[in-house]
Amino acid sequence: MIILKKSSEIAQIKKSGRVVARVLRSMSEAIVPGKTTTRDLDALAFRLIEEAGGKPSFLNYRGSYPASICASVNDVVIHGIPNDIPLQEGDIVDLDVGVFLDGWHADSAWTYPVGSISENAQRLLNVTRESLYQGIAKAKVGSRVGDISSAVQKYCESHGYGVVRELVGHGIGRNLHEEPSVPNFGKPGKGPLLKAGTTMCIEPMVNEGTHRIHTLPDQWTMKTDDGKLSAHFEHTIAITSSGPEILTTEED
Ligand code: MF3
Ligand code: CO
Repeated sequence: MIILKKSSEIAQIKKSGRVVARVLRSMSEAIVPGKTTTRDLDALAFRLIEEAGGKPSFLNYRGSYPASICASVNDVVIHGIPNDIPLQEGDIVDLDVGVFLDGWHADSAWTYPVGSISENAQRLLNVTRESLYQGIAKAKVGSRVGDISSAVQKYCESHGYGVVRELVGHGIGRNLHEEPSVPNFGKPGKGPLLKAGTTMCIEPMVNEGTHRIHTLPDQWTMKTDDGKLSAHFEHTIAITSSGPEILTTEED
């Protein structure tokens, strides 16, 4: 069941989302190539979330996730656990963070370049980010989840990239993960109908090569099968009668 939110509840999610956006920006500004570790970024995120009066949505997720953020470098697709390896010039790093504030979650991810990166890496970032916005543009009253999914998939595949199947976007609200599931592949006109008050995370995970991925023995880290790069961009949005509204932003 999709839990529809009133506008006052959407405003609450947006308050959490503002913290998420601020934490992402702060982490990205803190990166010094060759020096900063993802553990440093995790500590920064934890501190900023606590200072804002919130809790990190991911910490202890399913009783086992050990950090406040996921930090997924290069061929790590998602759910990278922060570690002590300094980020290196030329890396790309997906920083994913959720904030639980006053009873409401928001969740966003962004893949950042570390110093100057290859043209191939930059193209992957550009296409994956744009695919998120192509998906968001379809998130309108009367559309279906499949309209979002197919828009993301078509855009990415038209650039020759592989769209990850194993993980999907999701509804969000009082819980980090609610219905509906929002795959990054699918058919237009299929799937749940979108109504005003639906709040969801759209989060394309896009690989330079094969869409196939595997999980490491730590049970969290997911990597591309071919060792090529992967990128991930995510926003929490609300579907309103006047169109999609991005909730994980520092603006307005
Ligand atoms: N953005 C991801 C998601 O919504 C991150 C989850 S991390 C986890 O599924 F630790 F909470 F699993
Ligand atoms: Co998410």
